[in-house]
Formats: sequence, structure tokens, C-alpha cells
Amino acid sequence: MKLLSPAQSGPIHFSNRIFMAPLTRSRADNPELAPTELHVEYYSQRASAGLIISEGTNVSPRAAGYIDVPGLWSKAQVAGWQKVTEAVHAEGGRIFTQLWHVGRISHPDFHGGELPLAPSAINPNRPVRTKQSGRTQTVTPRAMDLDDIQTTIDDFKRAGANAMEAGFDGIEIHSSNGYLFHQFFSSSSNIRDDQYGGSIENRVRLLFEVIEALREVMPVERIGLRLNPMMHDAGGIEVTADTAPTFDHIVKRLNEYGLAYLHLTRPFQKLDIPEFIEDVIGHYRQLYQGFLLANGNYQPAEAEAEIQTGRADAIVFGRPFISNPDLPRRIQNHWPLAEANPQTFYSSGPEGYTDYPPYE
Ligand SMILES: Cc1cc2nc3c(=O)[nH]c(=O)nc-3n(C[C@H](O)[C@H](O)[C@H](O)COP(=O)(O)O)c2cc1C
Repeated sequence: MKLLSPAQSGPIHFSNRIFMAPLTRSRADNPELAPTELHVEYYSQRASAGLIISEGTNVSPRAAGYIDVPGLWSKAQVAGWQKVTEAVHAEGGRIFTQLWHVGRISHPDFHGGELPLAPSAINPNRPVRTKQSGRTQTVTPRAMDLDDIQTTIDDFKRAGANAMEAGFDGIEIHSSNGYLFHQFFSSSSNIRDDQYGGSIENRVRLLFEVIEALREVMPVERIGLRLNPMMHDAGGIEVTADTAPTFDHIVKRLNEYGLAYLHLTRPFQKLDIPEFIEDVIGHYRQLYQGFLLANGNYQPAEAEAEIQTGRADAIVFGRPFISNPDLPRRIQNHWPLAEANPQTFYSSGPEGYTDYPPYE
């Protein structure tokens, strides 16, 4: 197989194995938090990706922690996304939406003064930005009670049903990068003493309950999920002795489902502790039997090698897709790649968003 070879996962056909990563771009600056014509243009410019995974999209107002992130709970949002999926499909592309709940990486400004929700009342001490307060800090969140947990499961289910109505080819559960699910997985952020804390089975329970709820509203082959097992320090999550056993348990259980894919991010830095798995892709390739996506600072040559050696089924590019809307063609023709400008990652309007030109 090659990066440019087509691929198939269940009912979904991908024209190549160069996938676009979920990338928060903070352009939904309207009261509805709905995608706009600008989103339609941005995503259709990138439709030659084998698969586009949308920016993290909030499942409910309670899930939010970043400015101008679109959602998928209201009719206006479904209508906005419908235009995006139609435009991507018209270009022959495929698009999943990434369903997001940030948990404690939030601030009361997003919740009418109420505390953010998390597995336990532990402040991650992270910088956050809100419209009211500008640059500020996270607070100690409120530990979710069983009603909050059930509401969250229902919110994911409704967002999944809305995703199908909006014409997405599938959804990705954002269970990585220190957000809500990752906060449940990690004993550094989850000190609950009920059925959602303590043992590995308990800490991963919410994820599997959400998968079960989602499969009531969509085929399981249209559900993917993302893990970043060796993420350390970001979001206040720490790699500890039970981290690898927790993720090994999750990945082995995922084999029973026949999901669209498992999306792994490899660590950016090496940690000098015995529990650290440096080769996350190789390790989980051994444990996972389904379609595997690999992400994390890939350049084209290494990406090609990962596919040719069978270590991954597709490679997910983040920053290169921001600045190279025609990334698959550039890779195919060995054309140079443009550098993305971090100053406009989370700014507003077309600058640094829809104005990166295709090559020549
Ligand atoms: C501007 C920006 C926004 C991001 N937003 C998200 C997001 O919404 N959801 C997510 O899972 N990861 C997000 N990430 C992480 C990327 O999906 C990806 O893992 C990261 O950029 C590493 O891949 P790369 O080296 O190819 O850029 C974001 C990264 C960047 C640079």
C-alpha cells in the first residue's frame, strides 16, 4: 500500500490515505455557534483529503471551553454543517465530525457563571481564554454526579443523530488530549469512588457507555475515536504506572466493536520513565485489529513508510493541512509544502483560514 492508494473501512471508501486532522479554528463567531459560508469554503478547499475530520465540535453548551467553537446540538448548527458536508461530498470528499466535551479545560464564563464539569473536583491549572475575561486560568471544576453523566451520554447521542442528519460520513469521539474522557481515564484527574472511578473498568466506563448510546443512532462502522495515550502534562494529565494498562484495556475492548477506525497520536516528547511507551503506533498496532490512523508531526516520507510497512492504514496531518489545502496533490508531485502561521490558528475571518492557495 501507498499513501495515495485508496482504502476502505466498512462501508466507507477513502480515495487516499492522507487524512486531515481535527483542527479547532475558532471561526464560528455568531450567536448560534453554527458553521458559516467561510467553513463551507475552508472544508471544500480541503476535500481532496482521503478523510476530513472536522474541528472539535461541542455536543452541548456544557461541553464548551474555547471561543467560537461550533456545536452540533441545535437546528441552526445542523443546517450549517449540512452545507459543509454537501460541499465536501460535491468535491468527492469524505467528512467525519469530531464530537467534543472539554470537561475541566473550561471556565465559568462559558457556563453562565456555573462551574465546568469534570470527573473530580481537581483544578488542572491551565490557561484559558474567554470573551469576558480574556486570558485567564481554569478553576476547580464540579465533580459530575450521576445525572450529569447521564446528561452527557444523552448529549453525545443527540449530537451523533444530528451528525447523521447533517450528512456526515461518521463521527469521531474526542477521547484524547486531556479532555473529558481522558480526564475519566487518568487516575491523576479521576479520584471518584463510584462506578466511574477506581478500577480501569470503571475509569473507561463512560467511553463505552457513549459508544453504546451512539450506536443506537448510527452504524458502529461510522464511529471512530481518538486516543493520545502517552500525553503528559498537557491538560494536567500525567503518565503513571497505570496509564499503559488503561489504554491497553481500552484498545483490546475496541476490537469487539468494528469501529470505523482508531486514531492515535504519538507523543511529541520522550519521557524518561519506565511506564513510557515511545512507539505508540507500533505498540497499539499489535493490539488493535481494525483500521488504524496515525498522527503526530508526520512528514511525507515518514508517512509513506508507515503505510508501506503496514504500521498504519492512514496518516493524519494537522498543521500541514492548514497551510496546504491541496496536500495530497503536493505529496503526490513532491511539491514543496507551505508553513502554517500559528498567529492565525485561532483568529477570526478568512486570513490564515481560507487564503492559503493551492500550489501554482
Ligand atoms: C490549530 C490546532 C487546532 C487543533 N485542534 C484540535 C481539535 O479540535 N481536536 C483534536 O483532537 N486535536 C486538535 N489539534 C491537534 C491536531 O489534531 C494534531 O494532533 C496535531 O496538530 C499534531 O499533528 P500535526 O503534527 O500533523 O500538526 C489541534 C492542533 C492545532 C495545531
